[in-house]
Amino acid sequence: MESASRALVESVSRDNPIPLYLQIKEFWRKQIEGGALQPGDQIPTDQELCERYDVSRITVKQAINALVNEGLVIRRQGKGTFVAKPKLQQDLLKLTSFTEDMWQRGLVPGASLLSKELIPAPSEIAKSLQLKEGEKVVRIQRLRLADNEPLAVETLYVPYAVCPELLGDDLGGQSFYGLLENRYGLRLNKAEQFLEGSLATKKEAHLLRIREKDAVLLTERITSLEDGRPVEFAKSVYRGDKYKFHVVLHRHP
Ligand code: GLP
Repeated sequence: MESASRALVESVSRDNPIPLYLQIKEFWRKQIEGGALQPGDQIPTDQELCERYDVSRITVKQAINALVNEGLVIRRQGKGTFVAKPKLQQDLLKLTSFTEDMWQRGLVPGASLLSKELIPAPSEIAKSLQLKEGEKVVRIQRLRLADNEPLAVETLYVPYAVCPELLGDDLGGQSFYGLLENRYGLRLNKAEQFLEGSLATKKEAHLLRIREKDAVLLTERITSLEDGRPVEFAKSVYRGDKYKFHVVLHRHP
């Protein structure tokens, strides 16, 4: 333990032109990526880090925030900072639900139902869902939470004919994909997804606890079943400061 502590202190040098917070952050990044620390391991408290490196709380917070932003650690309120599960390339290419995405990041997923109604499909939605204009769709609006913090406003359009029972389900507390697969035995196959930057409307800003016109990330996803029928047109508006997508591009796939 003694030598580990010394190594920690030696890893930060005031003679180094690299800012102290970056040196601290880089030290912990190497520990995590090198495997010296495993997912779920706790890293020292901010107070302990301040003392070890003899730096201010602000410097330690900057270092930890940088690790959080890279998805290397997560903060659990009242419990401390823990090494996050690594993001797997495969997972990024998989069709996952919000619930699965949050568990993967070590966060507790949640949803609060804003509205649920049966409406005639607006023309753009009808086209995406391969429906005739005016055919019935169930529109569900939910606020999605991560560790009880609002993260996204989601609007789903589901063809009524594909899953009429959905109208009676409580979508506040459960996973939509979970319901489709486990209760209704529908098999999801693939989705096409579009991503774009956008600005929060007044209503979205209020729900997401940000300011109107703050940056948000907009996704549109059309998901289909194994028999080819589209099962959802989903529009999600994520807080721009909390969410990032990661894709690995291969020049020679
Ligand atoms: C993400 C997708 C939506 C999908 C939802 C399902 O948010 N963007 O298209 O409907 O996940 O999540 P869950 O199964 O947790 O309700």
